[in-house]
Amino acid sequence: MNAHKKDLDLQSRISAYTLEDEEYWSFRGRSVRHHCHDLIQYPAMMIPEMQGELIDAVLEEDQSIRRVLDPFVGSGTTLGEAMCRGLDFLGIDINPLAVLACEVKSGPLYIEKLKDKSEKILDTIKNDLSDEVSVEFSGIDKWFTFTAKVELSVIHRAIKKEPSKWARKVFWLSMSSTVRAVCNSRSSTYKLHIKSDDQIETIPSAIEVFEKRLRKNIERIEAQKKILKERNVLKMASSISNIVIKNTDASGKIRTPYKYDLLVSSPPYGDNQTTVTYGQFSYLPLMWIDLNDIDNLRKNDFLAHQNAIDSMSLGGSIKDAKEKYSELRYKSESLCSCISEIEEVNPHNIKKLTSFVYDLDKALVNSLSMLRDDAYMIWTLGNRRVSNIEVPLDRIMRELLEFEGCHFVHKVERKIPTKRMAVRNKIASTMGKESILIMRK
Ligand SMILES: C[S@@+](CC[C@H](N)C(=O)[O-])C[C@H]1O[C@@H](n2cnc3c(N)ncnc32)[C@H](O)[C@@H]1O
Repeated sequence: MNAHKKDLDLQSRISAYTLEDEEYWSFRGRSVRHHCHDLIQYPAMMIPEMQGELIDAVLEEDQSIRRVLDPFVGSGTTLGEAMCRGLDFLGIDINPLAVLACEVKSGPLYIEKLKDKSEKILDTIKNDLSDEVSVEFSGIDKWFTFTAKVELSVIHRAIKKEPSKWARKVFWLSMSSTVRAVCNSRSSTYKLHIKSDDQIETIPSAIEVFEKRLRKNIERIEAQKKILKERNVLKMASSISNIVIKNTDASGKIRTPYKYDLLVSSPPYGDNQTTVTYGQFSYLPLMWIDLNDIDNLRKNDFLAHQNAIDSMSLGGSIKDAKEKYSELRYKSESLCSCISEIEEVNPHNIKKLTSFVYDLDKALVNSLSMLRDDAYMIWTLGNRRVSNIEVPLDRIMRELLEFEGCHFVHKVERKIPTKRMAVRNKIASTMGKESILIMRK
């Protein structure tokens, strides 16, 4: 079948879902996270079932698909869905916490051993009565009470005593959410922002939180193993998928031995500093984790200060913004008109937007070089506002990809029913929507 005919088939396959229910893709009431998708609360996660159904729609069109790529893998929603289908996978992310989450998802899934080791570690924790603080970093006294520091140190020491790296990774991941729960930073924002004294007084015990999270995580890993077994994609205690996770910049050069058959991803929708600060969100947890246990970490410069990861992420540097714009202006008309609108209101803001799109474009070109010809791409995108002007990332991405010779296949717009923001103002009405852009290389 020729590629264009396949595109039309895929388009009608996806459109068919909305024939009976216009809001099918809003996933109202169907966005609960299960098994490996619930191991970490990471910002801006995609809905697993939705990505799974989209992957299935593409697989029905093209049964030769074996390898899936996600250049902005985050917590690994695509990874979990690829594993369920026995597909090989490459995930890339600049944030080491995302890499840790993906490494835990990847397995091995030794449930009985994990249960055994967990009881041992919980015992070690209970028997450690020392009040020594084993981790030091600048700002520790601002972000943690003395009790939290002592309890987190007890957990840290106990994890370090565990001899198996795969088990330590599961423990570090449980510790990462414990750190978020007991630190002095507000949970209502991803930015580091100090709690009020009253809120600090009600911070729970780190040891109790850790035990709860660890026990829950074991249940989730057990559920993941069961699903993989039911789907016949489990060999001994591991998924049959060949999985590679890289901690690197998707806009830098990346070498891969293979070409990938399908891309499923959601990039950030703006520079981290002014949209979602994935780096600040991860900074305190990463301070308490032994980073030697995360495989393939890039240089350790990402913890130099609390904004380091965010400034390494897409759009983190606004240097040479003018030159960047002169390269981009031929590639996306929608970007040009958006920039002119913003320039009239607040010229300062265009540097950040230009730099973000410039880095995104480099990441797109890189991703395309890792894909085989005719590979489909499923991009989940959010349109944000800059100076109260909507940035049409879905149109910009389409134009950037078309500039590289890609073909538009379909676009689905979905409402996000769970957004916590008020729906009244203009910002919320845009943020409460998301687009799924389907393109072909
Ligand atoms: C929207 S999130 C992805 C969420 C993911 N789809 C999930 O379900 O968890 C975007 C991700 O892009 C990553 N990121 C930002 N800039 C990056 C870059 N230059 N290279 C690689 N990853 C980057 C962020 O760290 C973040 O994890």
